[in-house]
Amino acid sequence: MKILLATQKPFAAAAVEGISGILTEAGHEVVKLEKYAAQEDLVAAVGDVDAIIIRSDKVTSEVIAAAPKLKIVVRAGAGFDNVDLAAASERRIVVMNTPGQNSNAVAELALALMIFMARTQFTPATGSEVQGKRLGVQAYGNVGRLVGEKARALGMEVCAFDPFLSDEQIIAGKATPVHSLEELYSASDYLSIHIPALPSTIKSIGYDLISKMPKGACLVNTARKEVIDEDGLAKALRERADLKYVADVAPDNYDALREEFGLRVFATPKKMGAQTSEANINAGLAAARQIVDFFATGNTKFQVNKW
Ligand code: 3PG
Repeated sequence: MKILLATQKPFAAAAVEGISGILTEAGHEVVKLEKYAAQEDLVAAVGDVDAIIIRSDKVTSEVIAAAPKLKIVVRAGAGFDNVDLAAASERRIVVMNTPGQNSNAVAELALALMIFMARTQFTPATGSEVQGKRLGVQAYGNVGRLVGEKARALGMEVCAFDPFLSDEQIIAGKATPVHSLEELYSASDYLSIHIPALPSTIKSIGYDLISKMPKGACLVNTARKEVIDEDGLAKALRERADLKYVADVAPDNYDALREEFGLRVFATPKKMGAQTSEANINAGLAAARQIVDFFATGNTKFQVNKW
């Protein structure tokens, strides 16, 4: 089979080598499209491929239409909001992710961003410490749990809200369960967001929730920019000079926010949560193995679309 590795944001060299090794050893041919400039480049590259490995690359209905032999897309990572699942399902193309494989990298970044904001973006201004502060985790999945674990090691108190988990499961993950978003936001000096971007979550975090946060609180978003209602965020920051926002990947209104709120706001220039060589290797190799297994045995364990 012909497998395309399409990564606008390339994997570390060791990951690319590992992916190629696993696929070629299983008898597949590997082609690469890395650091490509435009979406048309991806459309042009899929004409004769049977499988694609991607990161945040956009597998749109146009990409799928241009790939008549395509059987499987593996998103090397967690979020699959960049894949048109309906278009894939219509063609019976399997879409998978590699859950958990890059979670530690994202969790470490979430903690780093908290400390960066606590220390006023590493300027000489007097900062604060995260020890003794209350961390709220919104969605206690693979990343959320790791954020909780690391925060506890720093002496933070951790509470979590996750409508898909029981109190027992959250307690087993060593966090205090809370039962509504309102309660979570009201209780959290730091609030770390780990929800996926879905129609039900897009723009779901806005003024009403953010303005409930305690004095001096910081909202930390290493999930997706789309889950924030950016007008609501700006309104809350404007009304409350004590609130802060930090994100992995800039909101659309980032320049305006920086101009108006200065060091109370920060966003990474390019999404970098999963950009460690370890995460690249874990997620990339898992993707390659899932493809080998899919073609050899039909295993669809990590399939995320249905038909
Ligand atoms: C994910 O959903 O796995 C993360 O957002 C990582 O995305 P990336 O592969 O584009 O860095």
